[in-house]
Amino acid sequence: MTKLSRRNFIKGYTLIPFISPAIAMARLSDYSSLNVDSKEAWVRKARREIPASQDSFFQTAGIGPSPKSVMNMVNKKLHFQNKGPVHPKISKVMSAIEGGLRNKLGKTFGAEANEVALTHSTSEGINIASWAINWNKGDEVMITNQEHPANTIPWYSISTRFGIKIKRLNFDVNTDIVNEIEKNITKKTRMVSIPHVSRNNGRALTVNESKLIAGILKKRNIRYHLDGAQGPLCIPFNFHELECDYYSTCGHKWILGPKGTGAFFCRKDILDQTRLTWTGSHSHSSMDQLGNYTLLPEARRFEFGTRALATFAGFDEAINWNNSIGINKILKRIDQLVVFAIEDWTNRGFKVSSPTSIGQRSGVFVIQLPKNCNGWKIYEALQLNDFTFTSPVDAPNDLRVAIHFFNTRNEIKNTFDLISNYCVRESF
Ligand SMILES: Cc1ncc(COP(=O)(O)O)c(C=O)c1O
Repeated sequence: MTKLSRRNFIKGYTLIPFISPAIAMARLSDYSSLNVDSKEAWVRKARREIPASQDSFFQTAGIGPSPKSVMNMVNKKLHFQNKGPVHPKISKVMSAIEGGLRNKLGKTFGAEANEVALTHSTSEGINIASWAINWNKGDEVMITNQEHPANTIPWYSISTRFGIKIKRLNFDVNTDIVNEIEKNITKKTRMVSIPHVSRNNGRALTVNESKLIAGILKKRNIRYHLDGAQGPLCIPFNFHELECDYYSTCGHKWILGPKGTGAFFCRKDILDQTRLTWTGSHSHSSMDQLGNYTLLPEARRFEFGTRALATFAGFDEAINWNNSIGINKILKRIDQLVVFAIEDWTNRGFKVSSPTSIGQRSGVFVIQLPKNCNGWKIYEALQLNDFTFTSPVDAPNDLRVAIHFFNTRNEIKNTFDLISNYCVRESF
């Protein structure tokens, strides 16, 4: 209950009345007026369509809030399918969903449809990439010092099983990642797996850096995978332009799709050199009972088993929803809000931990708290007391305030008021 006194302390500054979380959940809509400052009608409209944006939602880098149309689509397709799961008319409609989605992902993000496999998370894609080659003892993989566990644990596991060596490169703000990679390559290096945008310090890899890395690695036959959990709809993403071999992402963060959706991109010319580990029905184009089989000649070979088609229809709808607004318009607004956040936070005398320069900065915005303040505690206080959702990251003094286009300047300012009041007025 110590938090109550803090909340009462804070409420003088925020004018948010004290109510219990249970009551507040029932009154979520009452909060909407507090946060909407946008003069832009398209942003106000989008916010009306995203129920969770009624809170101060800065957790898109963790899990994104979906618009109602996405949820409605999942619901509609689930009920439709259940009317007659094996009825030819119904199964025809349902089985067209995945092909349509692969096409749309390819068109939207610079790949051919046959280079896209539908997955359930970024982690699934990372696993496909990590098993793409036959590892030998002493082989080396490069990751960075700014990873999510999803791009760490698979390598630990492969290291435990096969004795590979993991090299952790420096991906701090402003470090030269191209040089880091180049100087760490040995004859044993087999793969590089790094973030497109770090979930930890918000640093984005630029297209130019990615092309240079690809050039260095291709010459030496080293595979190049990008962890793109924080990529699409957070920063510009075009698979071919990045020139990587593999790219793993998800639908449930910046794309605002249903939870448990993802995509793995595999360059067409490397497909047949990509070993398959987990597989099953639907991955093959032919098989017999004598041990003969051929895999599908496209990335779809990484998919198998019975799948959540209605959820993929929701993923498709999320892309439609973003496209109907305009992806460039969304990305431009994210960047404008990030610039506003940088100015507002630094004007208070504090530091920003994520990059501030064009190209490196992204919607994964990370602030540095004063020394007396701990990210975990602030994160907990904000969500419990203030319906403000941020996220702690690895550095104890950092707090991630992920900024999507539906956020507003008022929300950012109010949240920084809350944080600075917690940090400056009290020790946290
Ligand atoms: C950089 C990064 N990679 C991977 C993941 C894991 O994503 P998923 O839950 O889609 O597997 C996350 C999740 O936050 C992430 O930020």
